[in-house]
Amino acid sequence: MKDIININVKTRTVDLGMCKTDVLVVGHFSDSKRPQGPAGVLNSRLDNAIERLIKLGDFTGKEGTNEIIYGNEKIGAKRVLLVGLGEKKKAELDTVRKAAANAAKKAVEIKAKTIALALHPVFEERFDLSTIGQACAEGTYLGGYRYDEFVTDSGNGRSDSLKVEVIDSDTIKTRKLNKGLVSGVIIGKAQSFARTLANRPANVIHPAELAQAAKELARRNKRLSCTVLDEKQMAAKGMGGVLAVGSGSQNKPRFIILKYKPPGQVKGNCPFVALVGKAITFDSGGLSIKPADRMDEMKLDKTGGIAVLSVLKVVAELQLPLNVLGVVPSAENLPSGSSYRPGDIITTFSGKTVEVLNTDAEGRIILCDGLTYAAKQKCDVIIDIATLTGACMVALGQYKAGLFGNDEKLIKQLQTAAQQSGEKVWPMPSGDEYADEMKGKITDLKNIGGKWGGACTAAAFLRQFVGDVKWAHLDIAGVDIFQKPTEFTSEGSTGFGVRLLATYLINLAGKK
Ligand code: BES
Ligand code: MN
Ligand code: ZN
Repeated sequence: MKDIININVKTRTVDLGMCKTDVLVVGHFSDSKRPQGPAGVLNSRLDNAIERLIKLGDFTGKEGTNEIIYGNEKIGAKRVLLVGLGEKKKAELDTVRKAAANAAKKAVEIKAKTIALALHPVFEERFDLSTIGQACAEGTYLGGYRYDEFVTDSGNGRSDSLKVEVIDSDTIKTRKLNKGLVSGVIIGKAQSFARTLANRPANVIHPAELAQAAKELARRNKRLSCTVLDEKQMAAKGMGGVLAVGSGSQNKPRFIILKYKPPGQVKGNCPFVALVGKAITFDSGGLSIKPADRMDEMKLDKTGGIAVLSVLKVVAELQLPLNVLGVVPSAENLPSGSSYRPGDIITTFSGKTVEVLNTDAEGRIILCDGLTYAAKQKCDVIIDIATLTGACMVALGQYKAGLFGNDEKLIKQLQTAAQQSGEKVWPMPSGDEYADEMKGKITDLKNIGGKWGGACTAAAFLRQFVGDVKWAHLDIAGVDIFQKPTEFTSEGSTGFGVRLLATYLINLAGKK
């Protein structure tokens, strides 16, 4: 898949004042009175222009804001872009990521061809340079992204490519920055890949098309192999869940398996992680149909599955010493004469029976077959990711994903990865009380619980299908979409989960 905007990120050892670029980006904290660090250096060369801007109150340093100052003959850059870093005591890794994103977004808007990012010294005190380099690269991709591949009029008001340099005058530092930057580029690109695939509508991406995208990933990387089951093969295996949900659409369901093999000797003794992602290419609700208002957003009901494919792309490009399996059940949930119905009883891949009381609770019905498949492969850990419930969105809003699971250590590891990646999570329960609500009257399970705690009962349903395997579940219903553009990125799919899960796996690979 071609990138919509071709972004290239590198490090460069260069003196700040001499750096030739369209936009030289420097940060400023809202609680520092005078420009410091790189902003301070440039301020003197620009005859105190930065200081005057701050004194006048035209630039406060609030996070998410920026201001352009034009260059002069004393500096190499055509423009200096001041970006707000917020309060100094609150500065975290995500501050760097967001500042880079804000600058990249601005650069694309003003059609700059090149930008250079100069680091504020405060971050070096708090984080190692490699981590900072990674955050810079990730932020650049986040902010430089736009989804306009179906806009046919010429004036899309943006540049087609952007060259980004993370600069320092010290070679040792740029070398350290570069280490993490290389991973950040791989992760950032994968996240953009995820966003584009997710933003494509349901008449373009249906299950077979998504399977093609997975096969394409495997074609391009020799460590990945892809197997796709069609309906006949799923029927032969008894994957009644995916088949039931997919039965209403002419676009037939697929069961996508993407497997990563680590290089050489490490294979046998490294952890085996399975990632399972929900990929409903469109969720109309089926016969339990959804209201018309914002039904269009349900093209994004495939983002869990897409995150899984994209994370496998990262793992393969980084050649991590892990065994990773991606499992992506994919179907389109539509009402028709052949749809599954409320009241239907289905036998899932596990053998457990489920009474369907609401065809709109379809995510858990495809995921349970995915979880069973993963558990049968004898993996050490299963993590699933899904736009599973509106209830999770009600509980946590749009800023944090629900995190459920049966293993404290795994939950902690995911919380750590969330902190590092800036993709936030919040722990939620899914224990016995919730599982009791999901017990069926005439079957083993039913697919909906009572009125309350819908995110927890959904998770408790999934929990029944992992056996003794360590398991975590991410409900990303609230966080997979920017309904409006933010200061850091454009609207549409967020690609949530790519950074989080990639970071979790990188950490795991480091520990061994
Ligand atoms: N895909 C939806 C969940 C969703 C809702 C994602 C809003 C993003 C934004 C899921 O399939 C669904 O419809 N869940 C139902 C479950 C209910 C019928 C028990 C829901 O949350 O309403
Ligand atoms: Mn649904
Ligand atoms: Zn759904």
